[in-house]
Formats: sequence, structure tokens, C-alpha cells
Amino acid sequence: MDKLTIRGGHRLNGNIRISGAKNSALKLMAAALLTDEPVELRNMPNLADSRFMARLLSTLGVDVYWPQGDSTCRLNAANISSTIAPYDLVRKMRATFNVLGPLLGRIGHATVSLPGGCAIGARPVNFHLDAFEAMGADIVIEQGYVKAAAIRGLNGAIIDLPFPSVGATEHTMMAATLAKSTTTINNAAREPEIIDIANMLKAMGAKIEGEGTSTIRIEGVDKLKGVSYAVMPDRIEAGTYAMAVAAAGGDVLLEGAPAAEMTSLLEHLRKAGVTASVEDNGVRIQRNGERLKAVDVDVQPHPGFATDLQAQFMALMTVADGTSTITENIFENRFLHAPELNRFGADIRVQGKVATVHGVDHLVGAPVMATDLRASVSLVIAGLVAEGETEVNRIYHLDRGFENLEEKLNACGARIERGADTE
Ligand code: EPZ
Repeated sequence: MDKLTIRGGHRLNGNIRISGAKNSALKLMAAALLTDEPVELRNMPNLADSRFMARLLSTLGVDVYWPQGDSTCRLNAANISSTIAPYDLVRKMRATFNVLGPLLGRIGHATVSLPGGCAIGARPVNFHLDAFEAMGADIVIEQGYVKAAAIRGLNGAIIDLPFPSVGATEHTMMAATLAKSTTTINNAAREPEIIDIANMLKAMGAKIEGEGTSTIRIEGVDKLKGVSYAVMPDRIEAGTYAMAVAAAGGDVLLEGAPAAEMTSLLEHLRKAGVTASVEDNGVRIQRNGERLKAVDVDVQPHPGFATDLQAQFMALMTVADGTSTITENIFENRFLHAPELNRFGADIRVQGKVATVHGVDHLVGAPVMATDLRASVSLVIAGLVAEGETEVNRIYHLDRGFENLEEKLNACGARIERGADTE
């Protein structure tokens, strides 16, 4: 397994180009199952997770053409040869579960392994399954697999989500594009990735309105057509680099960063004393000299502060002047980075869903362990600020979600090296 060695204390200056959004790309790939015509996805992030989704789609019979290093992925699901998504593939990446709805909508049946929990929480899929049942699917769970059938097709339904789940909103919306009559999703999630997915589905001929609001209406159509579509830029990657610059100091233009989708983070950064300016081609982040101020964070569904940026903001607050509280309202166990950040000399205390961060005046490099994707990158941010050397072990999590992380940061003056870890 690889590790990163970081020499802290270097300011960041230059440009970082933001890649396509992982959490949109994975679902857009699954949406290719909805049509028997070719789908071309541009601005695709080359990540372990997106490559993994490509592998699962291949096992279902989708013809995937995506040369290494290429940002265009071509998918053709004309001949689906299997409707079974096996445990080995689904357990490694939860987003693969999202092939269930498209298969059910187009073919009428699917057998997909239950994804199971993960480090950040239990993450059940009951909202997804309740929605498909309401749309007329027969669902049984046997030996860890969801077996779903809607032989005469799915019917439109009114779906009241108990919580604005991103995955359940996207999954239901995709399946409903091919259902008979109209589906209404109430209490829908409003994340920008949902708008991205709806835009691609509409370009394929789907009839969707209300995406980006709490009520989405989908009028089913008989067939969807092929499309060429560019994945939206990754607001989480952009936000992460914004915090890296805020932590290390310097002046970096995040090229292509989607400012309108980053409002809550940019407001928090400004309150902390960072200059965040929206420019024509992205967002510029500057911090020179002044110590950061402590700012509280209340993680909420979009447009609130994103849970996927919480760990990185905590890393930033470890060196702020004062005490901040960070409340995580989405996942029940998403503070795994707190004890690792304390290894740098940070002072973080966790009680239930609230972490209290007492800012210290400096961090000292340490060997640390990555536990999940966003937690891993919070350790990189801490390493950029810390005095001396930091070793981040088990970085396969980082490779799941950040394209060329060390190249992008090193081009701005960071000192990060990749090597084999000692495990
Ligand atoms: C998506 O996960 C993202 N993943 C997550 O990013 C992100 O943190 C999350 O949305 C919230 O923004 C992908 O898009 C691949 P949810 P998802 O359904 O869809 C509970 C990353 O680091 N819930 O909105 O799984 C659930 O347990 C990842 O890139 C149910 O109880 O999130 C959680 O507490 C991590 N039953 C809450 O809802 C369900 O059926 C929100 O989860 C579904 C969800």
C-alpha cells in the first residue's frame, strides 16, 4: 500500500484545475444502463472509484471504452448480459448499488448485493427500497442480496423521503424516467449533483422538473436515447483545495471551481479570515500572514455546509485562534479523523455529534492513518501546515476520490512524495 510523505510549512501559489465530480460521475455512469444507445461522458475524473464503476458495468455486459488517462468514457449498454451485481463489487464501493434502479427500470429485474455499512456510518438503503416498492417492484432480501422485480415495468408513485437522502433521490429519479406515469419525490435532496444527473437524463429524453428543489416530478417515457455529456466540476475537490490553501497560506486560483455550489464553504472561509474571490474562470483563495479565526460549523444537507467538507474544515480549525464547534448531522460516525488530527498536537474533543476544536498555535508532523476518503485528505491538509514531516499511511482512500492530488499540490509548492508504506 502507498503512503504520502509531506514536508509541511510551504505556502501554496499557482493554479489548480478542478476535475469532474466523482459523486456525479458515478451515477451518470450508472444512468448509461437506461438506454441501448451510446453514452459519452466527458470531463470524467480518473479515480479508483470511477474505474471501479466501469468494471461493474462491464460485468453487466456494458461495452466500456475508457483508455487510462483519458477524460472521455464511452459506454454502450445495448446488450445487457447480466442483471446481477455481486457482493465483491458492491461491498467495495457503495455507489455501485445505484445500478439497481436503472436495471429495474429498463430490464424489469435486478439482483444487487446489499452494500453494508462503512467506516462513517451504517448507511442503510431502506429509502431506496421503499421507493421502488411504492413504484410497484417486488423486493426480497435473500442471502445479502436485494432481488427486485417489476416485470410489467415500474409505475409512477408519490415518494415521501423521510430524510433528503442524496442517493435515494438520485436512484429514484433515474428509475422513474422509464416508469409508467408520473413520480413525485417529496423532501428530495437538493445537492448540485442531482441537478447534473437530471440535466443528463433530460438530454437523453427524460421529462424531469424541480431538480434542485425539495419536490422533483418525473414523467416516465418509453425509451431514453444516447447522449454526450460533460460531468460537472467537483465542488468537494475544489473546497478541499480551498482549505489546503487557507491552511498553508498563499494564493491559488482553483480553475473551474463551481463557486455557486460552494457558497456555504466560501462564507465560512471568509469568516475565518480567508480571502475567497469569485473570478470568471474559478475561485481564488488567498491567505497571507494573519492567523485564522475560529468559526463554528453545522453540517446540513445542501445548501448547508457539506458533510464531505467537514473533516477538512476541522483540520483548518485546529490552528485557528479560538474554539470552534463542528456538528455533524448527516452521518453518525464521521469524526474518525479527530484522533488522527490530535496526533499532530491538535486539541479536539468529540462528544456524540459535536466536536470541539481548541485552536493551537502550531501542529507538528506525525505518522497518521487514513480511515476514509475525506478524513484522509484532512490529514494531508494538517501535514501541509505542520512543522516537519508527516506520513499519511493507507492512502488508497485518497486515490478513490482525488485525481492527481500530490501533482496538483506540488505544482503549487507543496512537498509531497508517494512511496510504499511499511504495513
Ligand atoms: C452521498 O452518499 C455521497 N456519496 C456521500 O459522499 C455524501 O457524504 C452524502 O451523499 C451526503 O452528501 C455518493 O454520492 C457516492 P445519503 P449517500 O443517502 O447518497 C441515511 C464521499 O466522501 N440514509 O444522503 O449514501 C444515511 O445513513 C461520500 O464522497 C438512510 O437512513 O448519502 C445518512 O445518515 C461519503 N437510509 C443520511 O441518510 C437510506 O436509504 C444521508 O445519506 C439512505 C440514507
